[in-house]
Order: sequence, then structure tokens, then C-alpha cells
Amino acid sequence: MRSNNLTLILGAQWGDEGKGKLVDILTPKFDIVARATGGANAGHTVYATVNNVPKKFIFHLLPSGLTHPDIVGVIGNGCVLHLPTLYEELENLNLEGISINNRLKISDRVALLFEYHKLIDSHQENSKGENQVGTTRRGIGPCYADKINRRGLRLCDLTNWDNFISRYQANLEWHQSVYRFEYDSTTELNFIRSKRDQLLEKMTDTATYLYEALSAGQKVLLEGANAALLDIDHGTYPYVTSSNPTIGGVFTGTGISPQHLGEIIGVVKSYMTRVGAGPFPTELENETGEQIRKIGGEYGSTTGRPRRCGWFDAPLTRYSIMLNGFTSLNLTKLDILDNLEEIKIATAYYLNNQKLERFPANLEDLAAVKVEYETLPGWKTSLQDISSWEQLPPNAQKYILRLEKLLNCPIKYIGVGQKREQIIVRTNQLS
Ligand code: GDP
Ligand code: IMO
Ligand code: MG
Repeated sequence: MRSNNLTLILGAQWGDEGKGKLVDILTPKFDIVARATGGANAGHTVYATVNNVPKKFIFHLLPSGLTHPDIVGVIGNGCVLHLPTLYEELENLNLEGISINNRLKISDRVALLFEYHKLIDSHQENSKGENQVGTTRRGIGPCYADKINRRGLRLCDLTNWDNFISRYQANLEWHQSVYRFEYDSTTELNFIRSKRDQLLEKMTDTATYLYEALSAGQKVLLEGANAALLDIDHGTYPYVTSSNPTIGGVFTGTGISPQHLGEIIGVVKSYMTRVGAGPFPTELENETGEQIRKIGGEYGSTTGRPRRCGWFDAPLTRYSIMLNGFTSLNLTKLDILDNLEEIKIATAYYLNNQKLERFPANLEDLAAVKVEYETLPGWKTSLQDISSWEQLPPNAQKYILRLEKLLNCPIKYIGVGQKREQIIVRTNQLS
């Protein structure tokens, strides 16, 4: 049975575009909010008012909509699950008076991420010297590698504790023989043992659960993690994460059939940022980049690392729109550009004096491209209190309309601040 009841919110650039905020805002229209890919490498910030108190939340593993009381959260089979982080997040919500209880369903097929995956992540990074990816060192790559190597453990393996222990030990010993590290597994195993009953209660065949929910007419919001240019297949490999944050990952990572697909919302920042290494054609390694970083608070939500900043990159974002088929965009953090005299937009890449019609696969090419820019005047006014398109200064409208034209995709939501209400929802956009 077809429906339009699945809405996707996906990162369209290099991450940290502001996905968490939009998920939080749209959650009340849905019954279920789900994650499909990634793990605690994600850091999604939400400013929510809970019990009349405004609070900041950073979600790593749990779906960002969970501050809303009736929503059910799903961690899909495509994620990698670090149990101590999960419990830390549940505990933090509990301390804020948000009880999750049976509102969380975790896929029985989800891959478990252990402390030794983190050690291996760091070991691999250190061994790469100058060529480090700049991972979050959360063990993401090594855990996905175990899954692909068919040696990983899944949540459903917890049903038989003795088997779990012996497979865990065998895996650990294998990794130790390859990477040569000391490891005391007692704390980790004691922790997992202590949470086992609770985990088995939350353990769900989430593909079937989601199928039944969608068949019964329920609405599902899918919260993307990471972003298109970090995609293992389509991103700036090898400076990428180890999963598919583009649209295909949603379906493998949940087991939902595409026949339920409705809106596909891409989240794009009004300028570019990137954490970690890799080519960045529009990077601003100057005063303006520093100013954007400072005003935009561009420091990683997961690692606290300063984010590299640059001008909006239309060729890169067009590539992301092509891959994901976005039906609309959320342009975020427009307010961060409030003080700028002039704003640039990258409109095209040139290599050896030839205009590139496609986003290059080869990173040496991407690093060598000459970027063509267009310069627009700034608006030099605060946007933070603006709530409608009509109130926006003409130069801000021009910037948005120019992006919309260059991207050929409607910009439906415009973010002008961190809070829930600081968003303009457009009804008169390009269709
Ligand atoms: P995510 O990983 O895509 O969810 O994004 P992050 O939470 O890592 O980073 C986005 C940051 O920008 C967070 O601190 C948000 O609170 C903030 N943010 C999101 N939208 C806006 C906006 O429109 N204006 C401003 N000033 N901040 C925003
Ligand atoms: P959200 O969901 C920004 C980047 C890391 C590194 C590369 C690989 O908050 O947008 P990994 O630990 O995944 O192996 O690191 O990917 N990265 C992110 N950058 N936001 C994220 O998530 C990211 N998830 C991974 O910085 O360059
Ligand atoms: Mg983030």
C-alpha cells in the first residue's frame, strides 16, 4: 500500500547543517521519529522548552524528537550502537524530567559498537600520520567494518548471554592479534550484563514495527545523521564516514519500503562548514572565516573541534540534491551572515580552464578546482526576530532567491536563530 507518510530530513553538505532543530520542530506532526544510519559520531542540537524551562539538548544516538512527550523513537538496523552513550543520553533526558520508558524501540539487528572499536579507530587514525581522516574517534569505521566482515555482534545476540560472551571474546582476541592492544573487558561486559534485561525489552523487529505502523496510517519522520558529502559511496572519499547518509541508507537502514516516501527535506547551511580533513573548495582561511566560526558557534557538537568555514557551495549542493532528490530545502543559520558587507556564493568549478559539469570523484581534482564566485550585498540587520518572508530585508530575500535559482530546489524553511520559533516557513516558494 502506497502512502506519503514517510518524511526524510537529510544533511546535504558535510554535516552539522542544523538537522536536529528541524527534526525537533516537525516532530509534533509525526507518530514515530527514526534514525537509520551512523552512531554517536552525530551531534544534533535542539533548544527545547520542557516543563516551561528552555534547555539545550545534544542528541548523538537517540532521535532528536524525543523531548516531545508522545513520540516513539526508533534506532534502525543501519545504526551502530554504543551502549554507554545510549544510557548516558537516556539518563540526561531523565534528569530533565523526560521519561522514555517504552517510547524507544531498538532494532534487533543493530550493530553493537564496543570500546575496542574506539581504540582501533584512534589506532588507525594515528597510523595515517598526515593523512588522517579526522574521524570523531567514536569507533564508527571499525564497527561498520566488523559488520561488513561478518564478524560483528548485534543486539539480538544478547538473547543468549553465553553465546554472546564467547563471540565477544573471540572477536576481541582476533582484533588484539591484529592491532596488538591490551584490553580489560570486565567493565564493558559488566555494564552490558547489567542493562541486558532493559535492552531486551526495547529490542524490536523495527522493520516490521515500522511496516505495521505505516500500514496503519501512522506518520514517520526519518532523522538523517552525518551528510551527503560524508557518504562512503558518494562523498569525498576517503574523508567520509563509514555509512550511507544519502537517501539509499534510509531504506537499508530501516527496512522501510520506498513506496511510503513523501517529502525529502535537505538541510543546507547558509555557508559551508566541515569538521575533519579533506578538500574544501570554498574554505575561508582568513578573517571572514574566523568571523563566521565565532558568530556561528562553529565548534563540533560531538568533539568540540573548530569547524572549517567557507562560502556557500552551489555545485556541491546541487550534487547532493541530485543524489537525494530533495523536494525542498531548509536553509539554516542565515542570521549568522547578518553583519557581512558582502556575501559570496560559489557558482561553478573550473579544472584546467574547463567548467566542470559534474562533481569530481577524484579528490586531487576537487582540491585543484578554481571556484567561480558571485558576490551579493549583505543586509546588515539582525534577522533573529523575523518570522515571515515579507519581513526579511530585500538583500536577504535576494540571497535566498539566488540560491533557490542556482539549486533549482524550493527553499521552504529558513532558519534565523537556534530556537524553535526562529524559523520562517515559506509558502510562496519556487515549485
Ligand atoms: P546537526 O548535526 O545537523 O543537527 O547540526 P548541529 O546541531 O551539529 O549544529 C548546528 C548548530 O546550529 C546547532 O548549535 C544549532 O542550535 C544551530 N542552529 C540550527 N539552526 C540555526 C539557525 O537557523 N540559526 C542559528 N543561529 N543557529 C542555528
Ligand atoms: P552530524 O549528524 C560533522 C565527519 C568527521 C570526519 C568524518 C569521519 O552531527 O551532522 P567518523 O567518526 O564518522 O568516522 O568520521 O566524518 N563526521 C561529521 N562531521 N557532522 C557529523 O554528524 C559527522 N559525522 C561524521 O568529522 O571528518
Ligand atoms: Mg552535528
